[in-house]
Amino acid sequence: MKRTMIVAGVLVLGAGAVMAQQEIAVQQDNLMRSQAKSLYSVIQKMSKGDIPYNQKTVDEAIANLEADVAKIAKTFEVNPKQDVVNASYGSSPKVWQNKADFDSKIPPVQKAIADVKGKITNVASLKAAYTAINDRCNDCHETYRLKLK
Ligand code: HEC
Repeated sequence: MKRTMIVAGVLVLGAGAVMAQQEIAVQQDNLMRSQAKSLYSVIQKMSKGDIPYNQKTVDEAIANLEADVAKIAKTFEVNPKQDVVNASYGSSPKVWQNKADFDSKIPPVQKAIADVKGKITNVASLKAAYTAINDRCNDCHETYRLKLK
């Protein structure tokens, strides 16, 4: 009886650790998805004319993006050692082998955002802002993001 309880306890602890790791991976993925919502679902779509230009929506998207990017270094502090179930993209192990270099990819994104903040007034300037920011996102993805499927 005692033994069964210990075994059950160890199993619960094990499951808890797996859960926590999956939770970390999900948090990391959610942060990236939130950035994608601002940059792709709003800024890119609007710059292509898929949705009408709206100054308030643009300004909000830039502000959300700025807030999200500031969370990358901290959100990726711990290596979850697993991918989000069924995810299309995962983190390369290199993120945690070269965390300082990974982190060094963040300020250029912040600079690209700061450079356009408050200066986007029409589709043309929105398009330029999209490209400038997206190029910096991709500088990190090139090295640290893996395509899983
Ligand atoms: C410092 C590195 C870094 C920067 C900067 C960065 N990303 Fe990522 N991104 C990652 C990593 C690592 C992954 C893979 C792990 C994940 O999905 O959580 C990823 C995944 C993603 C994904 C795929 C999510 C999924 O699984 O569907 C999207 C979309 C994304 N990033 C958007 C962005 C956007 C937009 C920006 C710029 C505003 C950005 N990222 C900036 C590192 C970065």
